[in-house]
Amino acid sequence: MLKAKPFVKWAGGKRSIIDKLISLAPENFETYYEPFVGGGAMLYELQPRKAIINDYNTELMNVYECIKDENKFANMCGELNKHETNHSEDYYYEIRDLDRDKKKFNKLADYKRAARTIYLNKACFNGLYRVNSKNEFNVPSGKKNKVNTYDGPNLGIIHCLLNFNDINLLSTDFEECVKNAKKGDFIYFDPPYDSDTSTFNSYTENGFGKEEQKRLAKVFKDLDKRGCYVMLSNYNTTLIKELYKDYNFNYVTAQRNIGASSKNRGKVEEVIITNYKNKEGFKE
Ligand SMILES: C[S@@+](CC[C@H](N)C(=O)[O-])C[C@H]1O[C@@H](n2cnc3c(N)ncnc32)[C@H](O)[C@@H]1O
Repeated sequence: MLKAKPFVKWAGGKRSIIDKLISLAPENFETYYEPFVGGGAMLYELQPRKAIINDYNTELMNVYECIKDENKFANMCGELNKHETNHSEDYYYEIRDLDRDKKKFNKLADYKRAARTIYLNKACFNGLYRVNSKNEFNVPSGKKNKVNTYDGPNLGIIHCLLNFNDINLLSTDFEECVKNAKKGDFIYFDPPYDSDTSTFNSYTENGFGKEEQKRLAKVFKDLDKRGCYVMLSNYNTTLIKELYKDYNFNYVTAQRNIGASSKNRGKVEEVIITNYKNKEGFKE
């Protein structure tokens, strides 16, 4: 089957290390769980027959819902074409600010909200996703003259993947998402990153601080005890080293824009942790 690429640019997207992730995935498994799916790079590459994918971000998961549903998908594509045609600086702010009136925004059709999410991601500054305390999307325009909002062939591949396989979509907390995982299932956790630097200790835009990392490690251990295959990626920080010291560490250097001004900007050591042995032939 053809492979899709993420329909949004997403912070922490996994495309640059996807080969390594695939080489570390178990060869056979029952249900695939991806509790922090984001842009879905791993899902598209793995193409599981049965999966539960999840993200706390309801606007993002609404896009997956709309790509999956026949009618919503057709309507969403029409809307994306409209955004692409109408795009301008003023138009961007008009669409962005639809969420300032919550009553109206909550009545918008799902497919319109989904198209808005994709359009904002393509047209905003650097593909960021950021909302303020009132849950209003507040990223400024990327000042692009033209945006390619509608990528029909790619969206079509994702539509097929979500329909020809048994894929369930959720938008909840990671712990809730995996509560029914059982022996033989494969869970890939890609949480918001931990960091050793002070800049990043205060970076909790997803409400994902040290306590959340510790809660996740407990869930990882519990799934390990249940007999699941568990894989997790993160930065190789002091806390991560400590939390997962009983498991297998694989190292990979990824290209990341982490925001802090340092001479190492862009090059970051990531770890991929598994509770099972690597496939034969994999070099650490
Ligand atoms: C590092 S990103 C995942 C990137 C993704 N693997 C990709 O390739 O695009 C982390 C994701 O976790 C989600 N998230 C944050 N807190 C969460 C929680 N408690 N439960 C589930 N998802 C959460 C964020 O919305 C974000 O999409």
